[in-house]
Amino acid sequence: MKTIDGQLFVENIPVIELAKEYGSPLFIYSSKEIENNFLNYKNEIRDKDLVCYAVKANSNIHILKLLSHLGSGFDVVSGNELQRCLLAGADRKKIVFSGVAKSHEEIKLAIESDILSINIESVGEFQRIAAIAKELNKTVNCALRINPDIKIGSHKYIETGSKTSKFGLDKESVSKISELSKSNEHINIKAVACHIGSQISDENLILKSLIYIKEIADQLKGEGHELNFLDIGGGLGIQYKDEEKGDPKILISEVKTLLKETDYQVIVEPGRSIVGTSGILLTKVEYIKEAGEKKFAIIDAGMNDLIRPSLYEAWHKVREVEEGDVESETYDLAGPVCETGDILARDRSLKIQPNDYLVFMDVGAYGSVMSSNYNSRLKPAELLVTKDVAKVIKRKENFEDLIALES
Ligand code: LLP
Repeated sequence: MKTIDGQLFVENIPVIELAKEYGSPLFIYSSKEIENNFLNYKNEIRDKDLVCYAVKANSNIHILKLLSHLGSGFDVVSGNELQRCLLAGADRKKIVFSGVAKSHEEIKLAIESDILSINIESVGEFQRIAAIAKELNKTVNCALRINPDIKIGSHKYIETGSKTSKFGLDKESVSKISELSKSNEHINIKAVACHIGSQISDENLILKSLIYIKEIADQLKGEGHELNFLDIGGGLGIQYKDEEKGDPKILISEVKTLLKETDYQVIVEPGRSIVGTSGILLTKVEYIKEAGEKKFAIIDAGMNDLIRPSLYEAWHKVREVEEGDVESETYDLAGPVCETGDILARDRSLKIQPNDYLVFMDVGAYGSVMSSNYNSRLKPAELLVTKDVAKVIKRKENFEDLIALES
């Protein structure tokens, strides 16, 4: 994203041209930005290590294809995310499957797809995987996802590593599974994993979790398991406003130092830090409205398109697509959804009038994937821009799509 003479561009295309051709709301991504962000990790890791992009951040098949071509592996949390990866041509030996509630069908699909690892999150899940593997007469490579009880200080909804969260195993469950798997020919414990949360700016928190899981991995090795991988999860943050962003270079170089004397391979599962800064959400100002001392810009994108502000009070930068010649005023940006919480930004100083276009910045991660049809609103189209070509990677929904499953 760059501005030239007051005009906003995605790669070589002025956003106003895309607005005129495709309308709004509209998600637009830059493939160069995704590539650069991916390479920040890929260029740092050793040949034997893996970047497994967290598909949940943005699961569009075209983005998965792009990342797969760059050599990325994938972290999935559902059978359908796994199927997306397979459809995108992903290397199945670079796919890890996380998540606390894997169903019978999902585990079966994962085993039959021969992926790198299923990350176990409970004793019950271990037993379920073992039973299905036996049925299929297969041996499955698994990881133990540990809950290291580390708080990260981001929004409470995106902390995952504290003791009372639903994610990961405590030490007791690890011992239990270690014992059970030693005598089970259908399960190999190949990795220890953790993911302590998201939007982390301090790399040291992730390193702390690495030290924690390495100790467990060493112990499991001592108990006879042939462990190869340490999976440190994702979580590095980006800069939405003035917070510090996490630095993949610092993280990976510290990881390499910590593991210098060992032969562990590393898996890292970044989502936000790969796609977050690559995407914008284009929206149009429908009306300007005054309410007491407040001034609203009523826009055509709502909390159904971008739920992060309503759900986490998240702050996304807003920019004019073209600099108008009106006075700058302070606005709250309100969407069309019938909820008081449908405010996508507050107190923003903007030069706008009705029919002007705005963009929300940094919505490439957890933007379109968290959108819904609330109020029977149609989900926006998505474009992927590469230099001066814009490709529709998801068409806009229509009314028939909306009611297709109800007839
Ligand atoms: N690995 C696992 C097991 C995860 O659960 C997640 C994210 C990631 C990797 C990727 O984390 P990242 O690098 O993107 O921080 N919807 C929230 C974020 C939820 C993150 C869930 N897990 C948001 O909009 O901020």
